[in-house]
Amino acid sequence: MSHRTIHLFRKGLRLHDNPGLLGALASSAALFPVYVLDHAFLEGAMRLGALRWRFILQSLEDLDGRLRTLGSRLYVLQGSTRAVLSDLVTRWGITQISYDTEVEPYYARMEREIQALAEERRLQTHTCVSHTLYDVERIIQANGGSPPLTYKKFLHVLSVLGEPEKPARDVSAEDFLRCPTPPDHEQAYGVPSLADLGLEVQSEVLWPGGETHALQRLDKHFQSQGWVASFSKPRTVPNSLLPSTTALSPYLSLGCLSVRTFYHRLSSIYAQSKNHSLPPVSLQGQVLWREFFYTVASATPNFTKMEGNPICLQIDWYHDPESLEKWRTAQTGFPWIDAIMTQLHQEGWIHHLARHAVACFLTRGDLWISWEEGMKVFEEFLLDADYSLNAGNWMWLSASAFFHKYTRIFCPVRFGRRTDPQGQYLRKYLPVLKNFPSQYIYEPWKAPEDVQLSAGCIIGKDYPCPMVCHMEASQRNLGLMRQVRTEQQKTAELTRDVADDPMEAGLKRELQEEEELLEGAEPCSKSKRFSGSTDQKSRPCSWTPETLRLSEESVNSEVQSRSETYEGGEEHTEPNPSADGGKEHPTAPPGMIWRVTGGLVSATKGVVGATVGGVAWLGGKSYEITKSAVTAVPSMGVGLVKGGVSAVAGGVSTVGSTVANKVPFTGKKKDKSE
Ligand SMILES: Cc1cc2nc3c(=O)[nH]c(=O)nc-3n(C[C@H](O)[C@H](O)[C@H](O)COP(=O)(O)OP(=O)(O)OC[C@H]3O[C@@H](n4cnc5c(N)ncnc54)[C@H](O)[C@@H]3O)c2cc1C
Ligand SMILES: *[C@@H]1O[C@H](CO)[C@@H](O)[C@H](O)[C@H]1NC(C)=O
Ligand SMILES: *[C@@H]1O[C@H](CO)[C@@H](O)[C@H](O)[C@H]1NC(C)=O
Repeated sequence: MSHRTIHLFRKGLRLHDNPGLLGALASSAALFPVYVLDHAFLEGAMRLGALRWRFILQSLEDLDGRLRTLGSRLYVLQGSTRAVLSDLVTRWGITQISYDTEVEPYYARMEREIQALAEERRLQTHTCVSHTLYDVERIIQANGGSPPLTYKKFLHVLSVLGEPEKPARDVSAEDFLRCPTPPDHEQAYGVPSLADLGLEVQSEVLWPGGETHALQRLDKHFQSQGWVASFSKPRTVPNSLLPSTTALSPYLSLGCLSVRTFYHRLSSIYAQSKNHSLPPVSLQGQVLWREFFYTVASATPNFTKMEGNPICLQIDWYHDPESLEKWRTAQTGFPWIDAIMTQLHQEGWIHHLARHAVACFLTRGDLWISWEEGMKVFEEFLLDADYSLNAGNWMWLSASAFFHKYTRIFCPVRFGRRTDPQGQYLRKYLPVLKNFPSQYIYEPWKAPEDVQLSAGCIIGKDYPCPMVCHMEASQRNLGLMRQVRTEQQKTAELTRDVADDPMEAGLKRELQEEEELLEGAEPCSKSKRFSGSTDQKSRPCSWTPETLRLSEESVNSEVQSRSETYEGGEEHTEPNPSADGGKEHPTAPPGMIWRVTGGLVSATKGVVGATVGGVAWLGGKSYEITKSAVTAVPSMGVGLVKGGVSAVAGGVSTVGSTVANKVPFTGKKKDKSE
């Protein structure tokens, strides 16, 4: 055949495993490789930040260079895709347009426009799927017409389909000898620079865009076959200074690297090793997660939104632009969170578990802000930002879909400390904290004033105080989440492998996890005030309680449902005998739960409270908290939520401006003791 063809690059910026380009070459006598920098489209659809623009431009440079070594070149044009193509069809006498089909609704919309143009101008179109291992349509058909909604089910469908296709051969110089790229001297058609686009990026290039770098990085990683074979995702380190995973995601997301090439290279390494890890934690398991999210996203309406998204829990997230901005700009006051957000801004790539940390913090962990907000921030800054993966993982982390062990909440202090006790990662990304001793670096607000002084960083002035009390916030949110999941059980079940975690539904397991959570959480004690400075900006760190957001109604229904769950426990209603605020409290009689009153919160040191539906420990026993009516503690770094309770020994609780004595509080004893 003798078509004159435009091969339109969108993703798939590569010459290895590019079956679409090979097919176009085979059916043509002349082929024009084209990329359209469609600003309105790209920015409207994807919120491209400057780092990703740089990555894209570098990838185009690289593609152009590689095509030139084969005797061809890349034509880069700016404007709306449809108008540009329409123009070129006339100018070059085009008879065929070829492109890879993609799952994103905005790419699909563009494809419909191209099809319409083709019909109007009587052009052939040639399309191909090469951004995923399989044509996701096939997976959906094999599953009976709808996407498998759990990973386990998904793997089962794949086992029926068999291995994904092998990668196509590389495009070669012979291909372009047979089917050359005609010159066009009318314009330069070069790749614009960042400055041409009115953009500027200061930061160092750690991920140079393009196929050349992608293949080099792949080779480098795959040389170490032992590492590849034994790869286990949860055991990789989120805060190592160099990526502890492959860091190939930017290349995979733009198609500089073919996922089929990646997958089959892994298969051959696995074949050579006696023993290798398996999905979900293995490296092959990782790209299968990618495939999973692509499949679900392709067939789920409103996949990147909560509203109108049938698999996503509908949650009444807080509208809190101020807190969102603190999170976005690395001003939360938790060094672990802020360091990650800084790395994201500067470099455009963060480790998977680091993504967990900041995503959990923003949503179900601490701030109770919608995952959509977090997803948009990631979309702007991540080099690997991807429609399906970003939304899918945000739903996962916020426990809106796919993930069900929602009682596991990451502690923004302990999570990072586990793998980097010296805080090297924090010192790199938050140089303002670099002189803090390791003991304090994850919670600098606890450092005594002389330590802050000699570190040259006063908390509350040079670095913010923590924006929330983690223990308090996470307890409250856990209660909210539990309620949402009870009310929307049907939706939650959609994306849940029941067979996977038989215990998950069981109370026993839940209690155990709750214990972990409480053990991990540290009460928000009164911070060390810094008194040495007269600077107005130097404020002591105390957690200011938030406006009450639990309605009376929701508290009551929660109380009811929980009381029914825990039957057979004794009930205690004990007034606190010495609610006198601030003094040491006598030891609690064993087996009693004390009211949280205006006096001392706890009878035994180390006792902390929990939200309604949570657990309180007292005298070595745990209690289900079924009812309480306590509000705010403004000045002691102790927080109480209406309908919940949370406090440290020695804290004072007040309602409004008066000390709230004898707030009724009922606890039900649980039948387990330590
Ligand atoms: C809140 C949140 C948002 C995310 N947003 C994106 C995103 O926009 N784009 C993106 O590519 N990844 C996203 N991820 C998934 C994951 O964090 C990255 O793919 C991974 O960290 C990239 O590093 P790597 O290439 O070293 O991964 P490796 O561990 O080396 O894995 C190899 C490849 O497998 C795929 N992969 C790995 N983990 C996942 C996963 N959890 N889900 C789907 N595919 C996976 C990626 O293509 C990755 O490059 C997100 C994760 C979270 C928690
Ligand atoms: C195989 O791998 C598993 C888990 O990675 C490990 O527990 C086991 O010891 C390994 N066996 C051999 C023979 O290396
Ligand atoms: C997406 O959600 C909106 C409501 O937010 C709804 O009107 C629309 O029908 C949904 N789209 C699809 C394809 O279901």
